[in-house]
Amino acid sequence: MKFNDYIFIFTIFTIISFAILPITTQNYFTYYDIPTVNASKSTPTIFDIINYSDNKIILRIIRPDLSIPSEEGLLWLDKYLSLRTIYPDGKVVPIDIKLDIQDFNFCLTNEVYGIGSPIKIYPIRSKFLLVTYAEAADLNDPFTYIEKAMVIDLNGNIYGNTTFKSTYVDVVTNQWLPDQAGIFVNYNSYKGFLRVIPITNTSDFGFERYEVTGDGNILFLVQDILNFKESLSLMLTAIPMVDGRYAIVYANSTDSEVTSIIPQEGLYILILEYDKETEREPAVLYQTTIHGLKFTDINCDVSYVGIGQVCIVTGEYTIGAVKETIYFKFDFLSCGTAYNFKPLKIQTNPLIEYYAVQLLPYGGYLLSGIGSVDNITIVYGYVFNDDGEVYSWNLPNIVESNVIAGSTILRNNTFVLARVGEKPRWALITTELHKFNEDRDHGYNNFHIASTTPSIDDMIPSDLEFLNIKYYNKVELSNGNITIFQDDGNIRQTTSGINGRYVSYGDDTTIKVAILKSTFNQPGRRYYVSIDNNSVKDKIYQEPLYGVNDHVWSFTTTQTETEISSDDVMGQVRLTPEGTSYFLYEADREVFLMKLKRELADAIPVNPNRITTNEGFEIDTSVSQKQIFLSIDIKKMETEQERSVSLAIMDLDSLIKNKPITVIASGESTSYLDEDYGYKTLPNWRKTYGSALLGIFAITLVLICFFFYAKRKNADAKNTVIFQLGIIIFDVIMDITFIITKAKNIEALYIPSILFTIGPFIISVIIAFVIIKKEEKMREFFEWSRENKKVVDVFTVLAGSEVELLTILESKVIIGGNIVGRLYRFRDYKRVVYESADNDESNVKKEP
Ligand SMILES: *[C@@H]1O[C@H](CO)[C@@H](O)[C@H](O)[C@H]1NC(C)=O
Ligand SMILES: *[C@@H]1O[C@H](CO)[C@@H](O)[C@H](O)[C@H]1NC(C)=O
Ligand SMILES: *[C@@H]1O[C@H](CO)[C@@H](O)[C@H](O)[C@H]1NC(C)=O
Ligand SMILES: *[C@@H]1O[C@H](CO)[C@@H](O)[C@H](O)[C@H]1NC(C)=O
Ligand SMILES: *[C@@H]1O[C@H](CO)[C@@H](O)[C@H](O)[C@H]1NC(C)=O
Repeated sequence: MKFNDYIFIFTIFTIISFAILPITTQNYFTYYDIPTVNASKSTPTIFDIINYSDNKIILRIIRPDLSIPSEEGLLWLDKYLSLRTIYPDGKVVPIDIKLDIQDFNFCLTNEVYGIGSPIKIYPIRSKFLLVTYAEAADLNDPFTYIEKAMVIDLNGNIYGNTTFKSTYVDVVTNQWLPDQAGIFVNYNSYKGFLRVIPITNTSDFGFERYEVTGDGNILFLVQDILNFKESLSLMLTAIPMVDGRYAIVYANSTDSEVTSIIPQEGLYILILEYDKETEREPAVLYQTTIHGLKFTDINCDVSYVGIGQVCIVTGEYTIGAVKETIYFKFDFLSCGTAYNFKPLKIQTNPLIEYYAVQLLPYGGYLLSGIGSVDNITIVYGYVFNDDGEVYSWNLPNIVESNVIAGSTILRNNTFVLARVGEKPRWALITTELHKFNEDRDHGYNNFHIASTTPSIDDMIPSDLEFLNIKYYNKVELSNGNITIFQDDGNIRQTTSGINGRYVSYGDDTTIKVAILKSTFNQPGRRYYVSIDNNSVKDKIYQEPLYGVNDHVWSFTTTQTETEISSDDVMGQVRLTPEGTSYFLYEADREVFLMKLKRELADAIPVNPNRITTNEGFEIDTSVSQKQIFLSIDIKKMETEQERSVSLAIMDLDSLIKNKPITVIASGESTSYLDEDYGYKTLPNWRKTYGSALLGIFAITLVLICFFFYAKRKNADAKNTVIFQLGIIIFDVIMDITFIITKAKNIEALYIPSILFTIGPFIISVIIAFVIIKKEEKMREFFEWSRENKKVVDVFTVLAGSEVELLTILESKVIIGGNIVGRLYRFRDYKRVVYESADNDESNVKKEP
């Protein structure tokens, strides 16, 4: 249970605005707080300090509402949720949120366990806060209370809310009290949180698990209701573990006066899945037959320097009139095995009433104690470790705090404590605590990583092939992802530790991540690698290790010389069988293609205008299942900073071929692309057409010469016919290319097109031959043709090519059995576009 919960504050309501003894240290942070709303003129007090992602600290500020007459044990507050976000540079962003909830949520109560507040806030999903509150149909009937939570962001926007499964009512006092439930945010905060609550009128506890979705909704996942036999005292806490599960550690004990034969009191551990009911029995960590031992506090956390979790247990040992407080620590693994039990020696201070021991990120512990002198809350503390080394906490001993004595320890070992500010200020004091394992801190915020290549802030070449991560201990790959991002947060590649294709071992302690060609494709750009929790496990202990956060392991690609600009290119991608059927029968094709273009441009990344598509498609007949090609063209770059066409082709192919690990897999349209095909360019028809034209021009030139030659020989003959040769030759070339490159993709067309090309060709040759033979009968022609035998032969063959495919192709052809396609043939491009019969004809884009 939380440190604060054990503070008994008797005088808080009288000392809210007492004067503060000034203390001059450099790490004293004070803020002149002007609320953004019409708040009460009372002194702002820090109620809660939250260590938020990306090194932000969030404070919850409360202001007593002076207009409400004070009542014994109650303190009414301004009805705003007032948050102050402190950024690493010291900037403070205030926000006062008006929540549409009942007024009693803004009333603090003085309870035996400390200060009660229905509103509690927890950081979740790196951009949200979870806010708990309560609702009552009848304030005087404890059984009408329900507890709820809502999700807000740091700008005060409100997202989803939920009603929790149960609310606890003490049937002895017949009271509903705030703070009866504990909320534990998952170690992977996208996995939600656990709520632990005693069940009214039973010795059961409910363990409710919820998820908070990316759009801020709260979903109930599962709950366990577990029985904890009637014991005199039950001390229970939950620890979110690195692998996303929760460990419940609890201690129970019976009355010290009663001797029972069977040992019953002890320490137990129970592992809960984050989204499944548990079927496991608790494991025994420690059991004793010795009576008189009562556990009063358990404080556990993931160990940043060691393996697994660490718990610090406080117990009271009473024999007769002698009462002794004992402290010990132990480590446990996520399988439920505990080891390394060690007693801890605490140096006490006569002014201090309550002590707490907290684990420090760099190893060792912070002991802090709270007391009260002349109505001023005082705090005492020091740092120590298992070996009994003791260090000062670099603050005066003792130091004054505000009544709440809110504090937190940041990941960089900085201790933050709330103080009382001079009206209208609030104040904080911070101190950097002794770092026991500083030599293992290489800037990754991860004490398991010895080094990486590239290292933080390196310059890397764009064609880097591997990332290497060297750990201190022997490691094994696990299922968390290792993701490479561009500095703006766009994913370049993401691979799971157990995906052998991309992640492998260097040696026992090193893992290697293969880099795709497309990953670091922007020169002079910053990238970062984020390592999920549980991407690797410690090999010996089989314990998941925590990862590396965003923007920590960053480096920059070197500037490369600008490339020579290349021309536009045409190419195609293939849809998977599912993608094909989705595209043909379900999708709005226009929307699909629009998204496809956009997603591909973002994936490379290039300016979206550079990716184009004509809206046609073709069937791929080389595969057994029905799959279609979509044309994707890449336009040449407009500025030299952009990715050249040739590199963009390579990137696109690499991105699609490695789809499972790139953004292609997560795009709405791109997820339907076939990774076996990638991106292939097509011969550029404009170029082919160009060279064909050039050929025709040459031939025509030859023919003109030939024409003049023939005219000189015989001025009466119909020599203009020679000019038709140019057109005819072009037609032959195009027909043959069409059959070779295109018609073969359309099974049903292949045979007919061959028949319709070759058949009439042969017939025409025969007819031409017959005609020419007949003409030969005319003497002049006969003589001319005798003299020009070669010309006649050419005519004979070319006459056969006067085959009008168009008329044949425009007839209806049945393709694949269910599409009655209409085929268009465009003489210049000869790209084939067909559509199902029920489709609007205007969808077919006719190319120039
Ligand atoms: C605060 O109160 C004053 C006077 O009562 C009013 O003019 C002003 O608009 C209020 N401001 C806000 C932010 O509610
Ligand atoms: C520790 O982190 C806090 C919060 O991000 C930051 O303000 C502070 O400067 C850091 N301290 C050190 C010594 O780096
Ligand atoms: C909770 O959600 C419901 C439905 O979205 C909404 O109508 C209601 O106003 C929300 N309650 C609060 C306190 O935001
Ligand atoms: C609590 O449980 C006892 C026995 O099971 C029952 O008699 C009593 O009515 C219960 N009280 C409430 C408030 O549900
Ligand atoms: C303590 O908990 C254990 C395990 O849940 C149980 O077996 C034992 O009976 C409990 N002891 C008491 C005194 O409740």
